[in-house]
Amino acid sequence: MKNLFFVVSILLALNLLNHTNACSVFVKGYTIHFKSDIQNEDVELRCQSKDDDIGHHVLNSSNPEMQWSFCSSYAGSTLYFCHFWRPSYDQHFDVFNTTMISRCDQGKDEHNLCDWDIKDDGFYFFEPHNAVWVKSFNWNRKTSRKLISEYTLYP
Ligand SMILES: *[C@@H]1O[C@H](CO)[C@@H](O)[C@H](O)[C@H]1NC(C)=O
Ligand SMILES: *[C@@H]1O[C@H](CO)[C@@H](O)[C@H](O)[C@H]1NC(C)=O
Repeated sequence: MKNLFFVVSILLALNLLNHTNACSVFVKGYTIHFKSDIQNEDVELRCQSKDDDIGHHVLNSSNPEMQWSFCSSYAGSTLYFCHFWRPSYDQHFDVFNTTMISRCDQGKDEHNLCDWDIKDDGFYFFEPHNAVWVKSFNWNRKTSRKLISEYTLYP
């Protein structure tokens, strides 16, 4: 029993050394990255999970990118969704869920990348397995005048 405790302590210590600022052995790290290619308009976005609010961001030509990182088990209960706004268009979708976990997975422990490119005609996701950008969503013409602060957790 004492030996087992010793072995486990060593393993835990090694794990901590190996994984400074990292996810634990049982989970992997993911990074969600957005870049806007829309030159003449601001793109506003707000991303949330049940217990994490990434906040309100504005992407434009002087500040075209944003990203955040987190840890998730492969079993994948983590869900992040985002709302996006432009003057005449909006959209919202899951950026991380059980489907996306395998689409983003690059077999790395850290920073498996969910990479999104926001263009005038829609949202493109980088498929790491085929190394191609795939258009995944269009922009919707705005139907409501809801302000960003009026949106709460969806669905
Ligand atoms: C980009 O957005 C930021 C934050 O709203 C703003 O301060 C800045 O002036 C904008 N830049 C351009 C080029 O519109
Ligand atoms: C996960 O999100 C993607 C992209 O938004 C969507 O296509 C897919 O249907 C979602 N999967 C589940 C299980 O909700």
